Amino acid sequence: MLKIGIVLGSVREGRNGEAVAKWVLDFAKNRNDEGVEYELVDLANYNLPFLGAPLAEAQQADAQAAIKGWSEKMASFDGYIFVTPEYNHAVGGALKNALDFLNPEVNNKAAGFVGYGSLGGVRAHENLRLILGELQVADVRTAVTFSLMADFENFSVFKPAAYHADNANGMLDQVISWSRALKTVR
Ligand SMILES: Cc1cc2nc3c(=O)[nH]c(=O)nc-3n(C[C@H](O)[C@H](O)[C@H](O)COP(=O)(O)O)c2cc1C
Repeated sequence: MLKIGIVLGSVREGRNGEAVAKWVLDFAKNRNDEGVEYELVDLANYNLPFLGAPLAEAQQADAQAAIKGWSEKMASFDGYIFVTPEYNHAVGGALKNALDFLNPEVNNKAAGFVGYGSLGGVRAHENLRLILGELQVADVRTAVTFSLMADFENFSVFKPAAYHADNANGMLDQVISWSRALKTVR
């Protein structure tokens, strides 16, 4: 079984990311890919501390449990779909911080991107490619890019245009293919 984690990279209250990630999960599941399992991983459920920040003694056990839960969950996958907004031409701080806790857990695995923003989150994608390069994650070329203006009503109600399905299929095909191939390297 190939396990692909769909990582929701925004924890902002009222985030658009939740509807986008749910769309990605439904889209992926509806493909009925043989031998592939998809799971949503919501960063907001982990309540990670900032990497290396000092914590009061009463908070330390919870923080350690959160880091362990996040690391083990990410280690359990063969590949990832990162659903990311664009904040100041990059991924959001929550996702960057979460990735900074990882390294061997994600090495020699594959990833694809689904972005959203005024230009479809493309600058967040390019930023993520740099980060994942250091983590030895092979990111695929095809990405899904939702426009805040064209794919959301009032910048907040997700109504994706039909044409995104082609890129979503292309991206998923590539992630599955590379995730399978990289299993042989690990
Ligand atoms: C701090 C901040 C910075 C942002 N910077 C950008 C940006 O550089 N480019 C862009 O296209 N959208 C930018 N946006 C708009 C976000 O992409 C948009 O609000 C999106 O819905 C955020 O994702 P979320 O709702 O899931 O948190 C920014 C939003 C915030 C909160």
